[in-house]
Amino acid sequence: MSQLHVINHPLIQHKLTHMRMIGTGPKDFRQLLREISTLMGYEVTRDLPLDDVEIETPMQKMTAKVISGKKIAIVPILRAGLGMVDGIMELVPVAKVGHIGLYRDPETHLPVEYYCKLPPDVSERLVIVVDPMLATGGSAADAITMLKKRGCNNIRLMCLVAVPEGIKKVQETHPDVDIYVASVDDRLNENAYILPGLGDAGDRLFGTK
Ligand code: PRP
Ligand code: URA
Repeated sequence: MSQLHVINHPLIQHKLTHMRMIGTGPKDFRQLLREISTLMGYEVTRDLPLDDVEIETPMQKMTAKVISGKKIAIVPILRAGLGMVDGIMELVPVAKVGHIGLYRDPETHLPVEYYCKLPPDVSERLVIVVDPMLATGGSAADAITMLKKRGCNNIRLMCLVAVPEGIKKVQETHPDVDIYVASVDDRLNENAYILPGLGDAGDRLFGTK
């Protein structure tokens, strides 16, 4: 069964509070999202398998640990997921990046696919899907389905703010996918926006509203 990890380190809570504030502009919003993504990325990669290697320090030979051959792909859901990529790349600079384009239809709130470009060997990689907002869960669930259709079987979902409804949707659709969030907020409003939330993440990142 999919596990929910709420990563509520004080630094993350502090930065998230500033992201939520209505007066925070795109420059600071982007910077804070990037910083939180690095901090969350540390937890999402906590259990990566390690191999032993023989090395030599200036003092003597030793057996030391390196991350085993497991390769990582980061897959942002466009647009807002883009704001989380660089923060994780700080930790795993050799990760490949795929892109999945989905937007929510304003009437139905259902996700509509418009783009998908993934690394050719994505099915052999640990895939970290990133999107700041997990609202109805439709976008994340569809993105994960798209990845599974292309052979991925080792997927994690990393979001900033979620609501119980979105978490339930992903867990029911994809019980094999662990979910990492910084906050579980209260509920959705009539337009399927998260309350208290932080508004429209894509617009706040890119200054489009
Ligand atoms: C937002 C957000 C998620 C989606 C979450 O994207 O970034 O992708 O909504 O909602 P859901 O859980 O109900 O599917 P949006 O469709 O606004 O596109 P954008 O990132 O391009 O602004
Ligand atoms: N997408 C957003 O950007 N914000 C929400 O609150 C819900 C969906």
